[in-house]
Amino acid sequence: MSDDESVEAILPGPVRLARRMGEVGTWVMRDPLRLGEVADVISLAGGLPAGETLPAVEIGEAVTQVVTSRQAVTALQYSSAEGLPELRAWIADRASVDRGRPVDPGQVVVTAGGLQGLDVIARVLLDPGDLVAVEEPVFPGSLHCLEMYQPEFLAVPVDDDGMDVSALAERLAGGLRPKLVYTVATFHNPTGVTLSASRRRELADLAERFEFMVVEDEPYTALRFRGDPLHPVAAYSDNVITIGSFSKTLGPGLRAGWVVVPPAFAGAVGRAKRWSDLHTSTLLQYTLVTLLGRDGWFDAHLARLPAVYGQRCTALRDAVARYLPGVLEVNDPAGGLFVWGRVVAGLSADDLLDAAIRAGVSYVCGPQFAVHNPDPATLRMSFAGNSPQRLELAARRLADAATTVLGR
Ligand SMILES: Cc1ncc(COP(=O)(O)O)c(C=O)c1O
Repeated sequence: MSDDESVEAILPGPVRLARRMGEVGTWVMRDPLRLGEVADVISLAGGLPAGETLPAVEIGEAVTQVVTSRQAVTALQYSSAEGLPELRAWIADRASVDRGRPVDPGQVVVTAGGLQGLDVIARVLLDPGDLVAVEEPVFPGSLHCLEMYQPEFLAVPVDDDGMDVSALAERLAGGLRPKLVYTVATFHNPTGVTLSASRRRELADLAERFEFMVVEDEPYTALRFRGDPLHPVAAYSDNVITIGSFSKTLGPGLRAGWVVVPPAFAGAVGRAKRWSDLHTSTLLQYTLVTLLGRDGWFDAHLARLPAVYGQRCTALRDAVARYLPGVLEVNDPAGGLFVWGRVVAGLSADDLLDAAIRAGVSYVCGPQFAVHNPDPATLRMSFAGNSPQRLELAARRLADAATTVLGR
């Protein structure tokens, strides 16, 4: 039974869920994570950052500093919907460097994670029936968040260089007029791919020519372990909204993120945030300001991440190549948390999953990330949450599962 059915079962007779709920997907945010809780299954399913990278001690020190300082009572009070000025200024400074032109702190709204950023943007900009272009495959959390506002979706395919911007251009030339184009341009979830520099420029040009907003979701940009950083799409046009998050760098349980919006939208985004949850936790924001205010601390913290994720990505890729030749091929991302795989030998990812779980390893089947066109041969694996040794064991278990399924 899905959660929605259980809720309906306890509602009094005449009360029905809103129509929009019938269109919103239910399971993906929970089930892959839950698989990780089954004893002795090595989960490659979740999108969690490596626990070892989360700075628990420093966060503890910063919270203690706040609650034992003269700011303690202020930190426990209501604060502004848009966020603490010091935190907005810190975010605006970093965004100015990324974009190569000044971002005003008034363009920044602090949110409870990146997904709330998408939610307030959608609330402010979408009417039912508006067209939203998304990558296919797509992060289901974002798709379901957008579904709450009842848009139509235009699915744009993804290849090794990220969103196929020429396919989007063709649809625009054919008369389609999206209001928003949502992209995870850097270390895309689920595929791990990155939008090339030329496509970033092309997408920004299209946004200006066809008057849509690009929503550039950037939870993974700081997790680069190879190659040089690219300019964000936002570097090339003012028609871009940035969604940022501390989830993958400081911890998703904090629920700390932000949006950077054009000045014209900032007031409406602040209002949408205020009339949803008043503001993001004041205590959390003071804690972040304390932590991020330690000279050089955040950059030194970020500098430790590539070694962890790069090593794990290589370990998983090498183990797949060693134990699953002719069965599974995975791509080669330059950062983020995920590899995207394709099962060969006529298998589907779903055919393999039951046996895989019985053998003690899990992943997410590619069709779970589909918008309109599921590809049964694809799957997503996260290398983030396990040591290189566990990743090797995971590949060996998957090879055993494949042997069982293929009857070899
Ligand atoms: C592309 C993308 N956007 C948003 C989120 C949600 O992140 P947050 O924890 O910042 O809300 C995730 C989480 O995995 C994600 O992959």
